[in-house]
Amino acid sequence: MATPLEFTEEARKRAAEILSRYPDEYRKSAVVPLLHLAQEEWGFVSPEAMACVARLIGCSPVKVAEIATFYPMFNKEPVGDHVLAVCHTLPCALTGCGDIFDHLSDKLGIRLGETTEDGRFTLRKSECLAACDRGPVLLVNRKLHTHLTTARVDEILDGLEEG
Ligand code: FES
Repeated sequence: MATPLEFTEEARKRAAEILSRYPDEYRKSAVVPLLHLAQEEWGFVSPEAMACVARLIGCSPVKVAEIATFYPMFNKEPVGDHVLAVCHTLPCALTGCGDIFDHLSDKLGIRLGETTEDGRFTLRKSECLAACDRGPVLLVNRKLHTHLTTARVDEILDGLEEG
């Protein structure tokens, strides 16, 4: 039997700090912040990572998987260093999000859901990102960019390349 996946010592300290915010009887409520921690630790939330979180909060891995699969911000597979998610809900569609997506796709040479060969970028579409009056909108990792043009997208990518 394979050794279960465990957090590093540093992440275990952070997990303990997260768990300390919850009374013992509500330990399970820490599942979302612990999934974020798991994603930071391993880049995505694998079934083994879900099992690790489940052990920490004392519930079944299936319960953790139900939550991890509900939220699109949790990557269930490996992704690139930067995840680019173009909002494609109607208000953004009306402001040209399709052009933004196509520009990114052409520039990076990848299609929806794919990752560049160098592992730098993953391209996705997103449901509404709650900035409907500022479209088109692009989420880069956890940072939201609004009022996009293709020129602004190029600047954002250049900034990521330099960073
Ligand atoms: S529709 Fe794009 S942010 Fe709401």
